Amino acid sequence: MEKRQELYAGKAKSVFATDDPDHLVLHFRDDTSAFDGERMESLARKGTVNNRFNAFIMGKLQEAGIPTHFDGLLSDTESLVKKLEMIPVECVVRNIAAGGLVKRLGVEEGRELTPPTFELFLKNDALHDPMINESLAETFGWATPDQLREMKVLTFKVNEVLKTLFAEGGLLLVDYKLEFGLFKGEIVLGDEFSPDGCRLWDAATREKLDKDRFRQGLGGVIEAYEEVGRRIGVDFS
Ligand code: ADP
Ligand code: CDP
Repeated sequence: MEKRQELYAGKAKSVFATDDPDHLVLHFRDDTSAFDGERMESLARKGTVNNRFNAFIMGKLQEAGIPTHFDGLLSDTESLVKKLEMIPVECVVRNIAAGGLVKRLGVEEGRELTPPTFELFLKNDALHDPMINESLAETFGWATPDQLREMKVLTFKVNEVLKTLFAEGGLLLVDYKLEFGLFKGEIVLGDEFSPDGCRLWDAATREKLDKDRFRQGLGGVIEAYEEVGRRIGVDFS
């Protein structure tokens, strides 16, 4: 597989074409952003850590029968993925109240959510990723009802697999965001799963071990990502 021209530079990753029209290279950079790109910083090792973390998680999801775009690691910071037609809708599941939910509804951080919640957001930085619903997604053509149903089923299936995986490492999967796309008409999990796009707390102390360390200026961001990875068996060597 030959890497070709850069197609897109996002806030944390760059996307490259390959000589195969069905595949892309995702390059995980050290860049870290928060608050819709308002705060940007480069954190040493982040690209490598997230690339390997994501590869490990995508492998686990694939094993559990969840279709993903991941096709393999190419280097420390690059992965080969299927080229998806991305659906501009972010799916968020929450097991414990934190972040935006706490702000929006005034509920207490740390409250267990039974059953877990499911929310949709439009992927649009300029509009600050507004919350949407199935009706808006259908009317504006962001996703069909069938696609939304499938995305919801897969997002909850991911919850079952990953809640267990993280629990075995003494971690609580608080919430997470997934992005899906279409590959030959099928809904496939795209983008990444790393501590950049989820919340993970130590189960005993409730210490934050995810991107909230960056958002809240707590320090030790990448060290926390590595700690989480080590606890679930990610190979960073
Ligand atoms: P952002 O666009 O939010 O700044 P990133 O820096 O992570 O995010 O950029 C990666 C971009 O690549 C995202 O826009 C994401 O939707 C897109 N993407 C992820 N996986 C795929 C894929 N398999 N095919 C096409 N695009 C993808
Ligand atoms: O994190 P924030 O307060 O902005 O929003 P949230 O709605 O509480 O986010 C829920 C989960 O989705 C968190 O784990 C976020 O890290 C993740 N998320 C993301 O990765 N990207 C977004 N654009 C929005 C949320």
